[in-house]
Amino acid sequence: MRILGIETSCDETGAAVVEDGRSILSTVVASSLAEHEAYGGIIPEIASRRQLEFIHSVVDAALREAGIGLRDIDAIGVTASPGLLGSLLVGVSFARALGFACERPVIEVDHIQAHVYANFLRGPADTRAMPGLPAVGLIVSGGHTNLYHIQGMTNFQLIGQTRDDAAGEAFDKVARILSLGYPGGPAIDRLARSHQKAPTVRFAAARLPDSYDFSFSGTKTAVLYHVNRPGYDPAQVSAVAHAFQESVVGVLTEKCLRACRDHGLRTLLVGGGVAANSRLRESLGEACEREGIALHVPPLTLCMDNAAMIAGYAYHAAGENRN
Ligand code: KG4
Ligand code: ZN
Repeated sequence: MRILGIETSCDETGAAVVEDGRSILSTVVASSLAEHEAYGGIIPEIASRRQLEFIHSVVDAALREAGIGLRDIDAIGVTASPGLLGSLLVGVSFARALGFACERPVIEVDHIQAHVYANFLRGPADTRAMPGLPAVGLIVSGGHTNLYHIQGMTNFQLIGQTRDDAAGEAFDKVARILSLGYPGGPAIDRLARSHQKAPTVRFAAARLPDSYDFSFSGTKTAVLYHVNRPGYDPAQVSAVAHAFQESVVGVLTEKCLRACRDHGLRTLLVGGGVAANSRLRESLGEACEREGIALHVPPLTLCMDNAAMIAGYAYHAAGENRN
């Protein structure tokens, strides 16, 4: 079964073709990110206008790359929520119109759960083992930080979430405080990696010990106070970026491992933009190896918003709808 996926929840316009929920035949992403950089964040109005301009050619390119035509598609999967309303509307309207014209079903998909599903996608010659379920799932993106107990492919139980900023949002806001531009995650990741000296500053993370919930806004504020302090030397920016990242990565790692232990689960699936963070990947890798937990993190391109995860997840959501 071939599914055309469409993803337009934020600034990326994505289309992809995935076979049987697993093999990526094509995946294409256009982005208006560069246009938002000057504003230090996504401007929804600009994002939705660009979605409208990009959507036809991105879908065309995905079909062309897959070497198929519209008639070879069995269904269309589309991100229904969460996301920017104007952007979502473009993808959902396009998918419904296409489905109506081609007489193909349209399957509406949850963007966050699809981020977890990126771990089940495989490209040609990709021989990584498939994750086993049940598992713990961590989604760390610009808008969400969710911890799930995943009992089946479409059976997600939310066990923890952020009480304030999402992890990616905290990276973006701290990057703004440090004048590193937008988006902040990749900039902080690079800068922190360049800091090879002993730490000169530490930022405590909120541990919320009886809960799997997260809170990052206190750490962000601690960074703000630190850099506004008299005597702060901007030459210390890499030490600050490093300390902030260590604080966020430390608490994410700790809660994932605790959730695995408490639920007796031996598999951890991670997804979302912040899953591209090199220190988070390293820290989870070390902790999971120590505890004998199978860790699955998607390749970098599948951590970011993309339509392959939507097409793949739609395959299972379609099965669920048929039952
Ligand atoms: O999942 P995503 O592409 O979009 C949403 O659904 O939100 O995530 C975007 C977020 C941004 O906040 C960005 O700063 C963050 O992912 N991000 C990173 C890294 N790459 C992207 N955060 C930390 N380290 C990175 N390397
Ligand atoms: Zn996302």
